[in-house]
Amino acid sequence: MAASCARKTTWTFSMMEGSLFILYLLVGIALVSAVDRNNFKTCSQSSFCKRNRDLDSGNSPYEALMGTLLISDDLVQLAVLNSATGIRLQLELHGLDQSTVRLRIKDPVNRRYEVPDVVQPNLQKSRWTVVQSSGSFEATLASDVTVRLTAKPLRLDVLQNGYIIISVNSRGLMNYEQQREKKSPKSPEEEGEEAVDEEPEEPGMWEETFKTHKDSKPKGPESVGVDFSFPGFAHVYGIPEHADTFALKTTVSTDPYRLYNLDVFEYELYNPMALYGSVPYMLAHNSERTVGLLWLNAAETWIDISSNTADKSMFNRMLDLVRDMEVPQVDTHWFSESGIMDVFFFMGPTAEQVMYQYATVTGMPQLPPLFAVAYHQSRWNYNDEDDVKNVDAKFDEHDIPCDVIWLDIEHTDGKRYMTWDSHKFSHPEDMQNQVAAKGRKFVASADPHLKRDDNYRMYREARELDLMIKKPDGSDYEGWCWPGSSSYPDFTRTDTRNWWAEQLSLENYKGSTPNLFTWNDMNEPSVFNGPEVTMHKDAKHQDGWEHRDVHNLYGLYVHMATVDGQHKRSNGKERSFVLSRAFFTGSQKYGAIWTGDNEASWEHLKISMPMLLSISVAGIPFIGADVGGFFKNPEPELLTRWYQAAAFQPFFRAHAHLDTKRREPWLLPPNMMDIVRTAIRTRYALLPFWYTAFYKASKTGIPVMRPMWQGFPDDEETFAMEDQFMIGDSLLVKPVTDKGATSVSVYFPGQDMVWYDVNTVQKYTGASTQSVYVNLEKIPVYQRGGTIIPRKERVRRCSALGLDDPYTLIVALDTKQQASGQLYMDDGHSFDFQSGLYQYKQITFQNNVIQSRSIDMNGRYQTKSWLERVVVIGLEKSPSSIELSGDFISTHNVEFSFNEENKVLVIRKPEVNMGIDWVMAFKK
Ligand code: NOJ
Repeated sequence: MAASCARKTTWTFSMMEGSLFILYLLVGIALVSAVDRNNFKTCSQSSFCKRNRDLDSGNSPYEALMGTLLISDDLVQLAVLNSATGIRLQLELHGLDQSTVRLRIKDPVNRRYEVPDVVQPNLQKSRWTVVQSSGSFEATLASDVTVRLTAKPLRLDVLQNGYIIISVNSRGLMNYEQQREKKSPKSPEEEGEEAVDEEPEEPGMWEETFKTHKDSKPKGPESVGVDFSFPGFAHVYGIPEHADTFALKTTVSTDPYRLYNLDVFEYELYNPMALYGSVPYMLAHNSERTVGLLWLNAAETWIDISSNTADKSMFNRMLDLVRDMEVPQVDTHWFSESGIMDVFFFMGPTAEQVMYQYATVTGMPQLPPLFAVAYHQSRWNYNDEDDVKNVDAKFDEHDIPCDVIWLDIEHTDGKRYMTWDSHKFSHPEDMQNQVAAKGRKFVASADPHLKRDDNYRMYREARELDLMIKKPDGSDYEGWCWPGSSSYPDFTRTDTRNWWAEQLSLENYKGSTPNLFTWNDMNEPSVFNGPEVTMHKDAKHQDGWEHRDVHNLYGLYVHMATVDGQHKRSNGKERSFVLSRAFFTGSQKYGAIWTGDNEASWEHLKISMPMLLSISVAGIPFIGADVGGFFKNPEPELLTRWYQAAAFQPFFRAHAHLDTKRREPWLLPPNMMDIVRTAIRTRYALLPFWYTAFYKASKTGIPVMRPMWQGFPDDEETFAMEDQFMIGDSLLVKPVTDKGATSVSVYFPGQDMVWYDVNTVQKYTGASTQSVYVNLEKIPVYQRGGTIIPRKERVRRCSALGLDDPYTLIVALDTKQQASGQLYMDDGHSFDFQSGLYQYKQITFQNNVIQSRSIDMNGRYQTKSWLERVVVIGLEKSPSSIELSGDFISTHNVEFSFNEENKVLVIRKPEVNMGIDWVMAFKK
């Protein structure tokens, strides 16, 4: 390990700097409307990015030493030599179940950070069958995935059924910067001598300055990088978080996509700058298959993308039309500042298999409590208890459902989290209990920075227990955030996380109740006076790791500890709800994520879709964007349209900046308030469908909000689509995102597929693009023929009150007069479902019979809900009678009506309990 060298850092923050920053935050909103790019590094300002980007493709200096090959069941190992420096690395290929391969290239001598706590324990392994020849070998898994390794220069190809799907280092960009001792300056005599077997020294390797911030880099250069190519693919997705298109763009004429969790004030749209979260996971999709690639590294990472099709000149594209088309290929180049090379290949071949494989390795998403899937009302801030009570009452007065009221940082005693402002919130428990008596919940912010004030118990305790992140000199790190001078607990430590979890107990968190849930904001971490508004990279975590090594993981650990605290406070009985701004691979296990500080503009409403789709396909299903836009004041039409769009996005929360005008739904002009009310009520009616979709996500990793290509994988028309999406496999949503729009163009995919407008049952046939008329009331949403959607039509003021309400089934038939769907039911809040207190039903319509059967016989939940109505859309002929039979009921005929004109049959009050298995036979 390199000895740490002398360094000079700018550790002290100035009061002036901090206050100016806050002033800038508050005043800036009105004046500036774009990110201050100067606050954030470009690739050329980051020395490791520049070094890796400047590498020329060509022959790689790395070669595999075939004589060192060791094969044991699921593991193939061999040494890799950098022939330019003589340095050896260790390459490992791990065979995993489910067509998954893990490639690790480690430095056998120097200790480098390996991401803990993300990969699931006890992954099922799969055995390699290896065939060797001179200078190469092929290792094959039972799933017919083969890795072909060519020794010199080192190259790996991942093949499936004989086709190369992903190539590693085929462009020779692999780079494993060796940790080394810093050289003392050369003497005049040494100056002339040529260095042998040494990596070249470049500026920025041993120290780097950005603005006033010096990074001391005690270990010197230690970046890792390599290229991955996807032959046969023209589209790649994922690697959130960026405010950019869903289908990723080439970076030939921009900076690479950057992954570095940052608090970016007024982020700009359509560029590759880093934002609050990082998932170093990319999917490639073509009409034959989908594959996924996870680069498991928590340090700052950049990804270059180029493509032989997208980067082609217009002239060459025209040539392609007359010649045979060239096979498309996407080339990517990934590099991180430190850590090891640890890569997973998820070989699908279907999109849903890739999603399952990824979630198997990184964890299945949490099943959220039902209230969390409903509507949330937030703003910075609800000022005091009266304000809260008034907001709560107004929802009832205007007959608008709402499940959660949010308390932003101003509810605390001077931004000391998990305390209360004793004037504005003097009776927090009473306030919560009164609102909770109606079935509503609260969420309060608890950010990870702790005010440095010895009278603040949490700070004092964390300091005394020595849990804080340190400066390089060993003293507690100090940075500026909302409370002023703050310290940051080292959440990468288990003891710190346990301590934090304890703080959420009802005893420690005075004024909290079991109905209070948590919001982890600013956990990138945000440090107002730090480099790029975050923590110094040479700050110290446990075991001598630097912040540089763990940065992108920090927010996930805060989220993890908070979830643990909520579980512990109920002795493991109740599910948690925690919203986090920063995220990483695996955050899906803990809860919801939102896209941070967006803006009240039509452009921001539009970009919410590609942003949410990117996070979705990267394995995190519970995601949303602030409804209305955080900064600035939305015009009523924009706010209305935003509600309509977000009612069909997974996490549905209105939120706004401190300086914006109040904008609760009842403050809209009456006609718009009515429209917003309808949008929110539509969300509530569809809660059984949403909840079922979340349940499926928790079992399969398949997202709730899905790109169009997921359901229609061979329809190239959908590959770059980002302005419409699917909820589950049943609802197609095309939000209206243009001011004054009177029509939208909707693409209905699927040859021979039918789609029904959910309001009018108008039928559309795929594959076709249709212009659809929209007035302000209209949310263009279509149910796919062939699906069954469960609803609860008696919308109450919050979801808890509707638990035992009856269900309606909307059966939309396909061209074969068939449909199917699922319904998941449990108590909506506890972990009892894990011990069997749930019901999972498969509902089908086939051969003129609708039936509901338990998919999972282990389910024992006894629901009081019964079936109130069945609507069958697209039924060709009316039956003469319908006979209902089932467990514990006598067989009898049920009432129905049939509308010949629009082909809709309605069965009224079959009154059968939703927990039992039943059949309804349509007689000719
Ligand atoms: C930043 C968050 O992104 C925003 O949603 C919140 O209102 C403020 N912090 C204040 O807590």
